[in-house]
Amino acid sequence: ASLPDQLMSEVQPALTTSGGKVTVVGVGQVGMACAFSLLTQHICSELALVDVAADKLRGEMMDLQHGLTFLRNVKIEASTDYSVSAGSRLVIVTAGARQREGESRLSLVQRNVDIFKGIIPNLVKHSPNCIILVVSNPVDIMTYVTWRLSGLPKCRVIGSGTNLDSSRFRFQLSQKLNVAPSSCHGWIVGEHGDSSVPVWSGVNIAGVRLRDLNPLVGTPEDPEKYNEMHKEVVNSAYEIIKLKGYTSWAIGLSVASLVSSIMKNTRSCYAVSVSVQNFHGIEKDVFLSLPVVLGENGVTHVIKQTLTEAEINQLKNRHSSLRPTRRRWKR
Ligand code: NAI
Ligand code: 2OP
Repeated sequence: ASLPDQLMSEVQPALTTSGGKVTVVGVGQVGMACAFSLLTQHICSELALVDVAADKLRGEMMDLQHGLTFLRNVKIEASTDYSVSAGSRLVIVTAGARQREGESRLSLVQRNVDIFKGIIPNLVKHSPNCIILVVSNPVDIMTYVTWRLSGLPKCRVIGSGTNLDSSRFRFQLSQKLNVAPSSCHGWIVGEHGDSSVPVWSGVNIAGVRLRDLNPLVGTPEDPEKYNEMHKEVVNSAYEIIKLKGYTSWAIGLSVASLVSSIMKNTRSCYAVSVSVQNFHGIEKDVFLSLPVVLGENGVTHVIKQTLTEAEINQLKNRHSSLRPTRRRWKR
């Protein structure tokens, strides 16, 4: 008898899958930060990695596998072939080009659309009921593109959106007020990055709205210049890219939080990129971030945030700036 047979008597065959499978497409800086956050926070029971770079893929897989002694047991597989992703409940797409120093997110659109044409249909072929979480930039456009390429219902295609921008904003607030970021409640909505919209009217600590204390907070007229915080949020990605070449840890953690809400059906609220048609008077079919409730079937509700007229106008101006870019890729 083989050694395993000498060691153990089989009572019933072990299951080959556990229903908690997540695939990460793109094992670059962002994909691996997502994978690492998922593993260390015990969010998935199976992890598949896909990339076009076979050696890098195998190296990353082995490196993660060698850390499993210190985590819960997760089945980690990797391949350039999409069959490895079969049966995923959720797929995170981080593949594609990233910005060079000073380059805008929008400049990546055509390169990443071309890459997504080879990725998205393959994912849906192997996991027809999955939820796709898009991270590659420009994330709002890439989420729309993914929805179109996938044929999935809109509620199952989500972009990481301004969840990261909101976290950066909450960090800025925490530094100013010396209160933990998790206790500083502030939302950034709209387009991820350059034209994001800070919802100053709702910023609060323990339910105390800063606008009730200082009606000018977040406006250019505010003598305390809290509006500088949003400029910091917008500039921070450019600054990090200049300093270290890419951003990774914060996006990895923010994605893990979204994935956790979906895999564990926690029904938490996040600002993520979804179809915003018919919200806040937006008529066109575009994807932008608004606060939503996430559960195991994806987006279940969009929060009807009470925005000021100025905030609604900012949101609408931003969405019209995305349209010409979207038309370009369709041609
Ligand atoms: P990276 O260059 O480190 O990794 C990209 C990976 O994609 C590489 O491993 C590459 O081999 C792979 N890849 C390229 N073509 C592929 C294909 N056809 N199929 C499968 N894999 C393919 O880039 P990084 O830093 O990981 O960034 C990835 C993307 O995430 C970029 O578009 C970047 O702008 C975006 N990003 C988005 C954030 C957000 O908040 N939404 C935050 C940070 C980055
Ligand atoms: C970020 O904001 C570059 O979109 C990326 O970190």
